[in-house]
Amino acid sequence: MRVLLTGHQGYLGTVMAPVLAAAGHEVVGLDSGLFADCLLGPSPADPPGHRVDLRDVTADHVAGVDAVIHLAALSNDPLGSLAPDLTYDINHHASVRLARLARDAGVRRFLYASTCSVYGAAGGGDLVTEDAPLRPVTPYAESKVRVEDDLHALADGDFGPVFMRNATAFGYSPRLRADIVLNNLVGHALLSGEVLVLSDGTPWRPLVHAADIARAFAAALTAPREAVHDRAFNIGSEINNVTVAEIAEQVAEAVSGARVVITGETGADPRSYRVDFSRFRAAIPGFDCEWTVKQGALELADAYRKFGLTREDFERRFTRLAVLRAASDAGTVDDTLRWRR
Ligand SMILES: NC(=O)c1ccc[n+]([C@@H]2O[C@H](COP(=O)([O-])OP(=O)(O)OC[C@H]3O[C@@H](n4cnc5c(N)ncnc54)[C@H](O)[C@@H]3O)[C@@H](O)[C@H]2O)c1
Repeated sequence: MRVLLTGHQGYLGTVMAPVLAAAGHEVVGLDSGLFADCLLGPSPADPPGHRVDLRDVTADHVAGVDAVIHLAALSNDPLGSLAPDLTYDINHHASVRLARLARDAGVRRFLYASTCSVYGAAGGGDLVTEDAPLRPVTPYAESKVRVEDDLHALADGDFGPVFMRNATAFGYSPRLRADIVLNNLVGHALLSGEVLVLSDGTPWRPLVHAADIARAFAAALTAPREAVHDRAFNIGSEINNVTVAEIAEQVAEAVSGARVVITGETGADPRSYRVDFSRFRAAIPGFDCEWTVKQGALELADAYRKFGLTREDFERRFTRLAVLRAASDAGTVDDTLRWRR
């Protein structure tokens, strides 16, 4: 397949592009490159790509494409809360526009990177399935719910959206993010000797390795239409349904000498959910996630050590919000996060 991969220069896209290529697909990227230089380790060999803002995509970008994998977005809660209007412009409106262009161009499959945070304040009781009520508690999560709704309305006999509700990712990517929980805790542990948890540690936060997300998307790309058409899937594994305190314990085991410190200063976090991942396994026989939280913590600790993580990089280069604030302060992006010419 000729696959348009938006967000190919992000944390997940950089891991996913080679997985798709290895599966025999022709990958074409599309990214404005906001985090292209946020590298830990050597530069990856990106696929050919369009350097374009998602809001400026035209029919030319989707012409001749068989499938779209749509990752590009302001990718977390702090970014979404920084400028909710911008989040809705980019994550919601521009995503739906891309989907319409794709449908008009005859694209048959559209894999959308949604998130388990659509379940929001589901609590830690029963495992939430894809049929659970959606209770987003941030503009970021709300933007994902709106896109799912609008893409569902576009589904027809030819155009098949698939909603991939990923758990929170972890693990090494050449374009690292240290603002996601496991990657953050491992980095902090290495730099300070403390696994620092600012919440009270009780929220449930299902995790999934970036490489397992990439494998799931590759599987959904070629799955029979009836297995995935217009369906939502939680992407992850029940063994990685963990509380933040449990994640911290795993990190302390992976980084020798580090001790867990739970300050509780940010109080209880309303984003708490335990998730049932069985629907995707049933749709894609043979698929399962390969990585545990502990393995991911060990892998990251090795990568951070090998490539010499510094506090400066940890706090600035690998924190999406800090990168955008710095670009804005330096005047390289305008207040709509478009590059200045
Ligand atoms: N990482 C996670 O834990 C996680 C979990 C669930 C869902 N997701 C979703 O997966 C997707 C990828 O996440 P990620 O962790 O790789 O994030 P990321 O921030 O590393 O990558 C996002 C990419 O989108 C690009 N982008 C942002 N705004 C753009 C715009 N206006 N035009 C063109 N490109 C733009 C950025 O340049 C970046 O390369 C996102 O949609 C995110 O919401 C991520």
